[in-house]
Amino acid sequence: MIAPPSHPSPTARIPFPEVKLPAMQPPADWSPTSWRTKPALQQPTYPNSERLEEVLRELSRLPPLVTSWEIERLKSQLAEAARGERFLLQGGDCAESFDDCTSDSIANKLKILLQMSLVLVHGARRRVIRVGRFAGQYAKPRSEDTETRGEMTLPSYRGDLINRSPYTAADRTPDPALLLRGYERAGLTINFIRSLIEGGFADLHHPEYWDLAWVKHSPHAEEYHRRVAAIRDSLHFLESLRGQQVPEMSRVDYFTSHEALHLLYEQAQTRRVPHRSGWYNLSTHFPWLGMRTAKLGGSHVEYLRGIANPLAVKVGPAVTPETLLTLADLLDPHHEPGKLTLIHRFGQQKIAASLPPLIETVRRTGRTVLWVCDPMHGNTETVANGVKTRRFDHILSELEQAFEIHERLGSYLGGVHFELTGEDVTECIGGARGLTEEDLRRAYRSQVDPRLNYEQALEMALLIARRMGG
Ligand code: PEP
Ligand code: CO
Repeated sequence: MIAPPSHPSPTARIPFPEVKLPAMQPPADWSPTSWRTKPALQQPTYPNSERLEEVLRELSRLPPLVTSWEIERLKSQLAEAARGERFLLQGGDCAESFDDCTSDSIANKLKILLQMSLVLVHGARRRVIRVGRFAGQYAKPRSEDTETRGEMTLPSYRGDLINRSPYTAADRTPDPALLLRGYERAGLTINFIRSLIEGGFADLHHPEYWDLAWVKHSPHAEEYHRRVAAIRDSLHFLESLRGQQVPEMSRVDYFTSHEALHLLYEQAQTRRVPHRSGWYNLSTHFPWLGMRTAKLGGSHVEYLRGIANPLAVKVGPAVTPETLLTLADLLDPHHEPGKLTLIHRFGQQKIAASLPPLIETVRRTGRTVLWVCDPMHGNTETVANGVKTRRFDHILSELEQAFEIHERLGSYLGGVHFELTGEDVTECIGGARGLTEEDLRRAYRSQVDPRLNYEQALEMALLIARRMGG
């Protein structure tokens, strides 16, 4: 029997139906802190643990950056992409920097992703899911814990969420306050993105809103504008048939993603929400498991296997078919549609040998996963003076091979993952403008991996669009 409420009110008398929206329950032996019992790679060591605890308490009280509704909407779109009905465009900086949390930098990132997605919609004849590496991509895995210069050894720079890049002991010491700064910067970024979109920034009727200033100088300006004009004509045609505007064309979805690396930070924003079962990481829609932390038995896999968000896994050359199957079983035990994305990043020389056995293995399990190609991270090289770069031709070659391999094996490459920026930087070699090693000196701004600049990114989208048929 249900006891009457002690202070009956008109609404309290009518029992509110318990609406439990679908979301998988986490495994019985999982909790948001169970990762702490496993070996944790790539975590900073904070000298001041009291301050750290204080910051984490504060972070866990602050409101979420995204909602479970948005997360579930993305999951269902990813399920469509896995079935070949949509295409995922995921891109942004290797690492966001707090300094770049400016209106221009954010708007330019939105613009380049919008332009690329428009080209892809036109070429691929599929709806595109736009996911930024933004609003939280502040922590980086490093191959060495420390960096030595001359006589001095200091902790490596691990991203603005953890420490600062100047080479002094004070800057390199992990600072818990940066976790709050990161949360706030992510909040500011996402707030600006949402306002722009709600205000009509992404309206397909007005592609001029998101023309980047330097588009007119681009060697691709003509092809880009031709595709935009074709879309505008189709839209006008459709709207004159309907006699009204197509409202879905006035706004688009943008989702956020980042590498789930700093587990204390992720845990602090892992919550239950009303009316849904399960736990959500509400700091981002789409966390991914980086290659360096995708270890069976490790803390990152442990953390991720319990949350309800869609998950992506970076798959590099060291992943065997057996490991991939175990990872898939742990992260998506119920074969939930849209749950699992596999982002392969082998490098143009290795993809031909490494990818086919993985596709075959996954196929044998009967799983439908979303396959995505990251043609950036396997193609990094170091040139004179230790400068890291990537060659446009290598990036393109890995992508073309990826399309060809999936096609040959009857699979579907459902998305691409790029490191790019809407700025006019010179970090990658090649592209239509033929950037050379010399040019890298001119505008190399990345603190970590080299990004495609605006023109190179647009060119990549145009080439993919042609490859996909249009
Ligand atoms: C990244 O995406 O910035 C990254 C470090 O990738 P990966 O884990 O694939 O090396
Ligand atoms: Co990177």
